[in-house]
This record gives sequence, structure tokens and C-alpha cells, in this order.
Amino acid sequence: MELTFLGHACVLLSGTKTVLIDPFIPEGDLPDHVDVVAVTHGHADHLGDAVRLCRPTVAINEVAKYLKEQGVPAEGMNLGGAITLDGVVFRMTPAIHSSWIEEAGLGYNGGGCAGYVVGMEGVQVYHAGDTALFSDMRLIGELYHPDVALLPIGGRFTMGPEEAMIAARFIGARLVIPIHYNTWPVIRQDPVPFKAALERTTDIRVEILEPGETIPVP
Ligand code: NI
Ligand code: MN
Repeated sequence: MELTFLGHACVLLSGTKTVLIDPFIPEGDLPDHVDVVAVTHGHADHLGDAVRLCRPTVAINEVAKYLKEQGVPAEGMNLGGAITLDGVVFRMTPAIHSSWIEEAGLGYNGGGCAGYVVGMEGVQVYHAGDTALFSDMRLIGELYHPDVALLPIGGRFTMGPEEAMIAARFIGARLVIPIHYNTWPVIRQDPVPFKAALERTTDIRVEILEPGETIPVP
């Protein structure tokens, strides 16, 4: 499987199927072909172009309801549950954050916030969504054994690097990719000390990806 970081929290997984998580791309175009979209929560920097893409989309019930109203073939689910689409397993994990859908000046309750463990070709990829650090991240490690963890490090609206270091230990994935930083000045972070500190103190490898960069996983 290949993983492409498209900027902010947007990640494309390419294997037997093509999965796009949190389709907000700060710069650049949407991928040509997407089989399934997964949205972590209703904030615009995650919901992104989900309506325009109009692909089968997994989301928490309230966001799925909104997407269906917009004509998107959305599949609602909720925390702790799983759904299999096109042979790809999506497990919805908790995230501690807020949610609100705001488009055209109208606000909708976005329900809760989530992360996903996406399983494809036997590889488990954990995308934490927007979240604070919480100790039950240990359970995500214990239950699903992610090979890769995509963790926000931007601070202010999510964990910063200090919390993400502990999150990485809780989850136990061998590869960590920092996300949700440097998109705007308010979430400016230097990922290099985060990488250096985690690699010095654990067996975890950290890959700092530029938007548009693709790596094989695991
Ligand atoms: Ni958010
Ligand atoms: Mn966000």
C-alpha cells in the first residue's frame, strides 16, 4: 500500500482501493480517482470537498446525514463501530474535539469527532483526526495494532508535539507521520524536534512528509 500526504489532515491510501481521508487539500487538486472517502468530523478543514467528490463516504451519523442531504452516498457509523466498504475496513475511534458543520452561513450540529483505523491489504493505518491526547489511545494500539499512526501536532486546536509523543507511545505504531500543522500561522510547528525526540527515545520511526509526497507503508 502507498500513502500520500496531501496537506493538513488529508491522506490518500492507495492499495486494492483508493481511500481519501479528510478531503481538504490546502493547495493542489483532488485525486483523479477515489473509491471511498472517510471524514473524521464536520469542521471545514476536514469535511473539505466531500460534497464535490460525491463518492461513497463514511462519517459519523450527523455528518453522514448532512452529506446525504447534499446527495452524497454517505454511510453513517459511530464511535467503536466498524464498516467494510469495497473490502476496506473502517473502524471509528474516539477523538476528543468539537464538531460543527458550517456552510453557506448555516450551522449544523456535526455530532461527535472521530479517528479511523483503516485496514487494507493487511495494513492498519490510524488517522487520529483532530484530538487531544487521551490515555485510551492505548486501547487503539491494543485492539487494532496500527502499523502507521497519523497524529496531529499543530497545537491550539489539537495535540501539540509534546502530547503527540505520548500518543505515539500509547498507540505503538512503528511509523508515525505528523499532520495538522503549518497549514496556517496559528498551527505553526517544527516537526524536526518531534521526530528527533521520538526516534531518540523509542523504536518508532517518524516520516515528515511534504504535501504531495508518497511513501510505501508499512
Ligand atoms: Ni476540527
Ligand atoms: Mn482541524
